[in-house]
Amino acid sequence: MIVLGIETSCDETSAALVSDNFKVLSQVVLSQKEHSEFGGVVPEIASRLHTQNIQYVADRVFKQANLRPSDIDGIAVTYGPGLVGSLIVGLMFAKALAVSLKKTFIGINHLEGHMFSVFLTYPELRPPILFLLVSGGHTEIILMKDFFDYTVLGTTMDDAAGECFDKVSRLMDIPYPGGPVLDRLAVQGDENFYRFPVAHVKGFNLSFSGLKTSVLYYIKNHTTKFVEQHKNDIVASFQKAAVDMLCNKLMLAQKKTGVSKIAVVGGVSNNTRLKKACSKAFGKFELYFPLAAYTTDNAAMIGAVGNLRIKKGESSSMSLGAVPDLYL
Ligand code: KG4
Ligand code: ZN
Repeated sequence: MIVLGIETSCDETSAALVSDNFKVLSQVVLSQKEHSEFGGVVPEIASRLHTQNIQYVADRVFKQANLRPSDIDGIAVTYGPGLVGSLIVGLMFAKALAVSLKKTFIGINHLEGHMFSVFLTYPELRPPILFLLVSGGHTEIILMKDFFDYTVLGTTMDDAAGECFDKVSRLMDIPYPGGPVLDRLAVQGDENFYRFPVAHVKGFNLSFSGLKTSVLYYIKNHTTKFVEQHKNDIVASFQKAAVDMLCNKLMLAQKKTGVSKIAVVGGVSNNTRLKKACSKAFGKFELYFPLAAYTTDNAAMIGAVGNLRIKKGESSSMSLGAVPDLYL
């Protein structure tokens, strides 16, 4: 079975062809650079760019895989969570194609997609798996008992982890999205330079807004020269606080569930310090990080979920709408 995956929930326009056993036949991801000057994603610009690029992206994946649209069995598209205008572009495109080709149409939860990125990298891996999903929009600790059987154990009470990295980057004059640049600067800094306070939230939930605010006040209370001189030390200290918070909660969840397979997915899973901390904390367990190409938003992860769900006999109604605040 071959499924065309479509992903347009935020600022990546992506299409992919995914066949059985999580095999990616082709994938194209167009990242919208136009938001950089605004310091964050501008929803109206995002949906306009998706509209401009979606047809091109879909054409490319068929060319790359040397397949025709009639060769596919179904079309899977993200219907939430995400920006409503952006989601609608992908949904409308997928529906129109499914109707014209007479193929199965299915809407996919973007968060489920992020979890499946680990199967694209490790096709033999099977649940139960404990997930840490850390991206620009989400921070969740999820137990996947089986495919399609999920329990959300914890989530952020305010900002997402990636959002916090991006906001702190902005305070330090690092262009959007700052996470990867901050990561590189932090490697050259002293992470014990300053101890930023972290919020202690009960259970498996997390909070990042207090940490972001304490970085803001730290910068305000020091001279521009001092901040510039110690830029790498400040971002390294922030990163340590953020990563330790994530790692500690994940350890708590591992102890509670007893699950021995742990996967870290989403854009922030690329973070050097997070990878190191998790490797140290979960040395006794099986730890999985997806390939970088599948960490940030991409259509292969959506196609992979679609492939399994369509195989199970599932499909969505043509009346399916975008659900910006969709949860698992
Ligand atoms: O998964 P993704 O594309 O976003 C959403 O689905 O929301 O991830 C993008 C996020 C951005 O916030 C970006 O700054 C962050 O992931 N990110 C990183 C790193 N690479 C990407 N954050 C910290 N360290 C990194 N190396
Ligand atoms: Zn995402």
